[in-house]
Amino acid sequence: MSQLSTAGVQATAPNEAGYRSFTLGSFTFSRDEYFAHVEWLSKGTKLSHTMSADVFLRALMRDVAWGFFYGTVNFDDVFGTRNRYGQVEFLAGCHHPTYKSQGLDHFESFDSDLAMRTCKAILHDWTNTGYDPFAAPMETGLAWIGKKVGHNMAAINRRREVCRRMPGLPGDVPLRTDHNRYPVNRAFLDVPQDEPEIHAAPGFEGEVHAFNLFAYLSRSDVTWNPSVSSVCKHSLFCPTSEEYILPVKHANDRVEWFLQLSDQIEWQIEDAVTGLPRAKVVMRPGDVAAMPADIRHQGFARKRAMLLVWENADPELPRLHAQGALPATPAEEFWAESPRKEP
Ligand code: PHB
Ligand code: FE
Repeated sequence: MSQLSTAGVQATAPNEAGYRSFTLGSFTFSRDEYFAHVEWLSKGTKLSHTMSADVFLRALMRDVAWGFFYGTVNFDDVFGTRNRYGQVEFLAGCHHPTYKSQGLDHFESFDSDLAMRTCKAILHDWTNTGYDPFAAPMETGLAWIGKKVGHNMAAINRRREVCRRMPGLPGDVPLRTDHNRYPVNRAFLDVPQDEPEIHAAPGFEGEVHAFNLFAYLSRSDVTWNPSVSSVCKHSLFCPTSEEYILPVKHANDRVEWFLQLSDQIEWQIEDAVTGLPRAKVVMRPGDVAAMPADIRHQGFARKRAMLLVWENADPELPRLHAQGALPATPAEEFWAESPRKEP
């Protein structure tokens, strides 16, 4: 069990519901039996925002496990974080048309390490025994509701699984099996579990590798938590199994690609800045979509589904997009180079 580092974290004694409140800059986070409350100062005015505690915890879980991720992680339409890679901004109303139009949008920058310690402390204090913020609602309890009861360290200490090159290679992350706590999920009992045969030419035995990605994903014990499952320079394949709702509205600072591997996910796409609806994308097995760099998106999966998220981890991309040096969509470039012929 990893030790929780609380250096510099500002917390109060527990309230009558048993939960502590936490302060970072002008932001205060508190919770009660049902709700998480975020308060902050905007232009000298104290503002507050209320979210269901489970919605807040599921979003916070991803933000912590992904190290604030790429770009912006919107917990909902009002509160979110923006990764500045070393610094992180806490956003309140910054991507909300009404807060913006009233001049009440507010953000504050923090050192990422202190912000992460604060987020982990909130997650630890507010997650009760029996509640797993990574699990599908049908696979975890309602223990998030009510007064504080215990902790769930095992659930919240899971982090994004990141391979060096590919799972199953010697010295890399292991494949998932019944024996290392990864049974096949109830939704994927029909997924064949056989592994590919590898016939490497003499001399290449240590360099050729393959594994059954469907079997690997069928054993995922979490939802909406991509693991990095192949690394080739900046190209990262991040497959994941999805059920219910992606707990954050992600606004990336680069283009990312989605490949639908099984079942169905509906994506609601909004403008990254205004939140106005831009598109709805229903993805079925075999569908491929590019998510532009100027949108935020949230996925909905009625039944557990397999998705491959393809990320470009080039650290230069946020700067190039911010400067307008790259188009927001890869398709724009494609059509410019090879214009569609009139019929
Ligand atoms: C995304 O924001 O692109 C994303 C995050 C988590 C997932 C899938 C997609 O599980
Ligand atoms: Fe995304």
